[in-house]
Amino acid sequence: TTGGSEEAKRRAGERAAELVKDGTVVGLGTGSTAAHAIRALGQRVEAGLDIRGVPTSYQSADLAREVGIPLTTLDDALPDLAIDGADQIVGFDLIKGGGAAHAREKLVDSAAERFVVVADPSKEVEEFDGPVPLEVLPSARRPVAEALEGLGGTPELRAAERKDGPVVTDNGNLVFDCEFGRIAEPADLADDLASIPGALEHGLFVGLADTILVGTHDRVEERRR
Ligand code: A5P
Repeated sequence: TTGGSEEAKRRAGERAAELVKDGTVVGLGTGSTAAHAIRALGQRVEAGLDIRGVPTSYQSADLAREVGIPLTTLDDALPDLAIDGADQIVGFDLIKGGGAAHAREKLVDSAAERFVVVADPSKEVEEFDGPVPLEVLPSARRPVAEALEGLGGTPELRAAERKDGPVVTDNGNLVFDCEFGRIAEPADLADDLASIPGALEHGLFVGLADTILVGTHDRVEERRR
């Protein structure tokens, strides 16, 4: 969904796919970097790897089907490992939701035994300064906007690109992108956002990631918690 080098994203995605063991369940993230991991996993499945994938979006489910990864749901199995992208990374904390998939991503990524983030160097920042996406119940639009303003944010309803009107998520809800300027205390903001009724999920992923894989032009840098 965002810029950055495709080559760097592919390297990170392929490295993450190598971490997947036979006979396991894998959380399949959303976005262009996670897609590289899904394609690489498809090749391993073709070569005999036995896995089941838990998708985080229509996008990841469709791609998994296309490349031959059998799918399952959290009702039947929890992932041993989840692989997912990010929009901004500070240490092991993330902002996600650039593709409006963060609610199911957070569900699957946090249910996994191990959560591996795949990214290119453009995602790593000193301090979060991007807008925080929130998935919002359609009927809660106004009170949520007012609550966000009360926290010092500037919420903007995400507009659809090829449809008149707003983005509607895979779950049938709306998305706010809420500008907070520089976010010095992401854990505190995450708590505040989580307490807004009607804001079903926010895009701050605090304390969830176990491993960060950042692809560069010639290698993959790995950080483990
Ligand atoms: C989807 O809602 C996001 O959380 C994605 O995981 C994020 O936007 C990463 O996408 P790219 O890998 O395409 O940058």
